[in-house]
Amino acid sequence: MKKRGEKIAMLTAYDFSLARILDAAGIDILLVGDSASNVMAGHETTLPITLDQMIYHASSVVRAVQRALVVVDLPFGSYQGNSKEALNSSIRIMKESGAHAVKMEGGREIKDSIERILSAGVPVMGHLGLTPQSIYKFGTYVVRAKEEVEANRLLEDAHILAESGCFALVLEKIPAKLATRVAHEVKIPIIGIGAGGGVDGQVLVLHDMLGITHEFNPRFLRRYMNLFDDIKAATEHYIKDVKGRDFPSEKEQY
Ligand code: KIV
Repeated sequence: MKKRGEKIAMLTAYDFSLARILDAAGIDILLVGDSASNVMAGHETTLPITLDQMIYHASSVVRAVQRALVVVDLPFGSYQGNSKEALNSSIRIMKESGAHAVKMEGGREIKDSIERILSAGVPVMGHLGLTPQSIYKFGTYVVRAKEEVEANRLLEDAHILAESGCFALVLEKIPAKLATRVAHEVKIPIIGIGAGGGVDGQVLVLHDMLGITHEFNPRFLRRYMNLFDDIKAATEHYIKDVKGRDFPSEKEQY
């Protein structure tokens, strides 16, 4: 798709019912993101979600999918220890969920792990820029790599990840100019989130683009629905119907 100049559309998914709709719509990649920790479990960060929980979400998504590529995040603490731990976690994801690839956050420091996972035949997607598993190191969710030193390091890391064999790379919340440069220099597809339009594809967190997480309003987010308000209104309507003895009607009973 990168060679053809066709943009790649990726969304997160965590459950069977919604993944089935996204797949039917023709989404290219479904990411079982560790953002499940936020949007599904209500944690403040992505750190608490476990490997078992990621496998549960991933297997639900895999059962729904007929055509999309399913990529699963290696959660915090399941790969940073050493490359053997990274390999074991990846094998568990592939074996127990049936997913097609894993994603990991980090640059040169995870090169050994990427190579070891690849040697077992598991495709790896990289993730640079704002890497939410390192939020306590960054201290803030602001745009990364605005300064030259960090931008140069990111560019080098992108080359290292591509040379290590990553099949694609997510760039999160970095200046559009830098992301465009990475996409030009690096041969693998670059998928952006808050990284501008000069990259090879885009990803959004499903609950954000559907307007379920209505309090989250970063500049890069385009909302396609306002489901918080719609679901709330439907629920209020249902409550009214039940309390007013309007539901069920004659036709809705046996
Ligand atoms: O977990 C996630 O949803 C992600 C995307 C933001 C790329 O990693």
